[in-house]
Amino acid sequence: MDEPRHVSVLLTECIDNLKIDPEGVYVDGTLGLGGHSLEIAKRLRGGRLVCIDRDETAIERAGKRLEAYRDRISFVHGNFSDTAEILRSLGLDGADGMLFDLGVSSPQLDEAARGFSYQHDAPLDMRMDASAALTARTVVNEWDENRLNRILWDYGEERYARRITAAILARRAVRPILPFHNRLVGQWQWYASCCRLTWQHWYLSQRCLSLYWHIRPDYPASRCCSL
Ligand SMILES: C[S@@+](CC[C@H](N)C(=O)[O-])C[C@H]1O[C@@H](n2cnc3c(N)ncnc32)[C@H](O)[C@@H]1O
Repeated sequence: MDEPRHVSVLLTECIDNLKIDPEGVYVDGTLGLGGHSLEIAKRLRGGRLVCIDRDETAIERAGKRLEAYRDRISFVHGNFSDTAEILRSLGLDGADGMLFDLGVSSPQLDEAARGFSYQHDAPLDMRMDASAALTARTVVNEWDENRLNRILWDYGEERYARRITAAILARRAVRPILPFHNRLVGQWQWYASCCRLTWQHWYLSQRCLSLYWHIRPDYPASRCCSL
């Protein structure tokens, strides 16, 4: 299979601003397809690059891409929240620069089975680390109201967090939220749940119109298509 063509975000700006010292230590906390790492590695002479990713397939893919620079790179399958510990375990005191290109990678979106994309019928998975036990299916079907709300409000900065949480709870009280199929039906049920939760029909119609643009299955910024 052909490797996906990949353009790294703000590549020149990131590399310029890292002001790479050829003998320095650098961390790419979100290796992905390795586009940023490749440019960092090329500039090192005696320095070290620590590449971290939660997704083991990213480590494998980028590992091949970065093969020519293997002598100066440490690949770590892990979470960048453990960067300090990872550096210590590699015998490094700290780093001269770090890069975090937050988000999902193109392969994670392209591979339907990963469950990240709204464009495919896919399992409710969404695990970056495929060896982790927790899936999105467990979260939406089992987590309590406070935890769901916290995800949407704190991490998602979702202003309709409480309403969406209420819709999830109402929906799963009828039957478990399923991984795939009937997505459109699911969406209309979600609409219906919102209907019951709003006070005025006028308000509802306005809100539904604006929400439509967020829950279209093919819209990248969809917020709750899997409901
Ligand atoms: C946008 S991609 C990075 C693309 C990369 N900069 C490039 O040029 O190819 C984000 C990557 O971060 C990884 N990731 C997301 N959260 C992470 C975390 N907490 N710890 C480590 N890696 C993470 C994802 O698995 C994904 O591969």
